[in-house]
Amino acid sequence: MKKLLKRFREILSKNQREVEGCRFTVPSSKIYPFQWFWDSCFHSIIYLCLGEIEWAKEEILSILSGQWENGMIPHMIYRGSSRKHRLDWGTGKNTSSITQPPMIAYAVERIYRKANDKNFVEKVFKQLDKYYSWLRTARGDKYLLYIKHPWESGQDDLPVWDHVYGKEDPSRKTLKSYKIRILRGSLHFKVKSVLFNSVYLRNLRSMSFLASAIGLSEKAFAYDQIYKLTEEEFRENLLDPETGIFFALHENKHIKIKTANIFLPLFTKMLKIEEAEQLIEKYLLNEDLFWTKYPVPTVSIDEYAFQPNRYWRGSTWININWFIYKGLKEYHLNDIAEELRQRSISLISKSGFHEYYNSINGMGRGPDDFVWSGLIFDMN
Ligand code: GLC
Repeated sequence: MKKLLKRFREILSKNQREVEGCRFTVPSSKIYPFQWFWDSCFHSIIYLCLGEIEWAKEEILSILSGQWENGMIPHMIYRGSSRKHRLDWGTGKNTSSITQPPMIAYAVERIYRKANDKNFVEKVFKQLDKYYSWLRTARGDKYLLYIKHPWESGQDDLPVWDHVYGKEDPSRKTLKSYKIRILRGSLHFKVKSVLFNSVYLRNLRSMSFLASAIGLSEKAFAYDQIYKLTEEEFRENLLDPETGIFFALHENKHIKIKTANIFLPLFTKMLKIEEAEQLIEKYLLNEDLFWTKYPVPTVSIDEYAFQPNRYWRGSTWININWFIYKGLKEYHLNDIAEELRQRSISLISKSGFHEYYNSINGMGRGPDDFVWSGLIFDMN
């Protein structure tokens, strides 16, 4: 781990930026030159592990400085001069007009637990509250949330979205054109994602915790209520009784593709222990489905769409492993969690801090200076 930490600190020092008074870390100085919302939440958690409390706070403050008047937190803030990935969103702002999985309250909870700094929570709470309210009105039918674009999922090319495009296994080129069509409004996209809603549920608990921490007991109670109702709807709507797993919903139908997202409800701690154990025995530890040499592939091996090398289509991502690891720990399934941690460490020791990895042979994919792969330091 010492060697990995040294390498990781070198990456950080190249990826840290200070632009117009904002300090943040780009996901990769090679290909992602701006600030991304959920990346920065992960970065904040990683900084806490390294004892860099100030940097952890800066990541949060810089994200919040891009919040819109209506409460939305955009998935990208274009700071700096690079042209790469820069799209004209037609908003007149230097941000995108969509969001990403709402990880920010959880990151702030972690800061508070580590630094015991109430002032920081007081400083950011209103903005967080405004964001989670915005989610409920702008992305909620009832309590569960939907996403309006594949990029809001944080898992851009997951084959689950193919279903919306009406096409099995589109090529890279067609995927790109679908995403542009959705942005232009000529293709309709409205999906209740398991990952997005699991992250949301866990973060509602963080909001309740943070409200209590600063003495807002009515707010805390309100968040508890929303949590309860959202959890009920999650179960009612996303659970497939035939298989016992949770699937994304599109036009009131499950999209029955097994992805690593089936394990995300572990992170929310909403499963009964028997359900958690069954999920793990039957799916996670099954070598024909998810337990590859370098798990956890984003898509199950037995799916038509499984491609171990491809972006979100069967490759392994460290943030997904981190969610599953934290979920396993919630259920005190420590041996399996440790095995997943060891395999994730061996992946990074072999290939470095890549964006993602081939889930069969462990080869690094995407840039090799990718910051959220440092979540390995928070798997403990
Ligand atoms: C890709 C990922 C997304 C991430 C971004 C920056 O678009 O799919 O989740 O936030 O890269 O790392």
